[in-house]
Amino acid sequence: ADSLRALAAKIGLRVGTAIIPYDLDHPDYAAIAASQFSVVTPGNEMKWQVVEPTQGTYDWSGGDRLVQFAQEHGQLVRGHTLVWHNQLPDWLVQGVNNGTISNAQLRDLLHKHIVDEVTHFKGKIWQWDVANEFFANSWDPHPLPDGINGDDFWVQHLGEGIIADAFRWAHQADPHALLFYNDYNIAGEDGTNAKADAVYNWVKKMLAEGVPINGIGDQGHLDTQYGFPTKMQEDLQRYADLGLKVAITEADVRTFVTDATTQQPTDPLAPYAQANYYDGMLKACLAVKNCISYTVWGFGDADSWIPGFFSGEGYANLYDVNLQPKPAYTALQQTLALA
Ligand code: G3I
Repeated sequence: ADSLRALAAKIGLRVGTAIIPYDLDHPDYAAIAASQFSVVTPGNEMKWQVVEPTQGTYDWSGGDRLVQFAQEHGQLVRGHTLVWHNQLPDWLVQGVNNGTISNAQLRDLLHKHIVDEVTHFKGKIWQWDVANEFFANSWDPHPLPDGINGDDFWVQHLGEGIIADAFRWAHQADPHALLFYNDYNIAGEDGTNAKADAVYNWVKKMLAEGVPINGIGDQGHLDTQYGFPTKMQEDLQRYADLGLKVAITEADVRTFVTDATTQQPTDPLAPYAQANYYDGMLKACLAVKNCISYTVWGFGDADSWIPGFFSGEGYANLYDVNLQPKPAYTALQQTLALA
């Protein structure tokens, strides 16, 4: 049967995956990455911690390698991510904490980081995740009135206006890249939909103020123990109705497993529930005209972030630990073939 990328190309959709560049040394892995996907995202290699491990010394090697792989295989690249509270360089966090980096200096450093990184990759990035995970979840204790997380590192030091500035700086450095706000639980995934409502109201306000935001990325980290987010399509459509592009940016569907190595589901029906969830996210995207890409957060279970972050869970990707495709893969293939 045809590959995911070939089937998606017929209907103008890009199917993507996160990639950890050292995996490209394994021919079986690289072959799947090249044949099944038409857009790639670096799992970690464009994050600040990786690109500037020592202040003033850049290391673009991981990102460059991925861009080169993409170009060799006719793929586009999602850049990920310019402003996030996580995976910041130690020198930056320590400098802020011990007072040797003032807030004014921090602002200048962020400006420089964004301009230098976007300029380095200028013309090579289709979509940039400019800002990542700024909104409060129901369990975060200090949301601001508009729902932004008051405890966020950047918001605490520079105020919430820094998010808009990040988009302005990125746009100046590469006016052709599509600039995304990326987050989780913002398309029907949380029960009350409060986070999705907050992001919607915020982005609407940003657009009214002329902030150069082109899209909203919903990460799509789901778990079979919770119900499928049935409002996903409606929420994606709501962003699209503001004139924005939308994308599924980090899809995976975790479930309980016997152990973190073999990642065998404890429930024999889990592979089918998982297929259903992957497929449901794809169908939500297909139903929204402005949904331009559907990206999974890695494709082989051996590379998944899940076992390390959710104890007892795993089996989250389209291929198992031996790179064998699962029912979820077939479900996506069938839906794309019929779309
Ligand atoms: O590089 C070090 C290595 O030297 C060390 O030996 C090893 C020991 O644990 O850690 C390695 O760093 C790990 C890094 O991934 C690279 O593999 C970190 O511990 C680990 O925390 C880090 O996890 C990443 C995570 O973001 C950090 O929050 C995952 O790979 C990455 O997939 C994940 O991606 C995020 C997206 O960027 C944003 N949305 C959520 C998503 C999942 O958390």
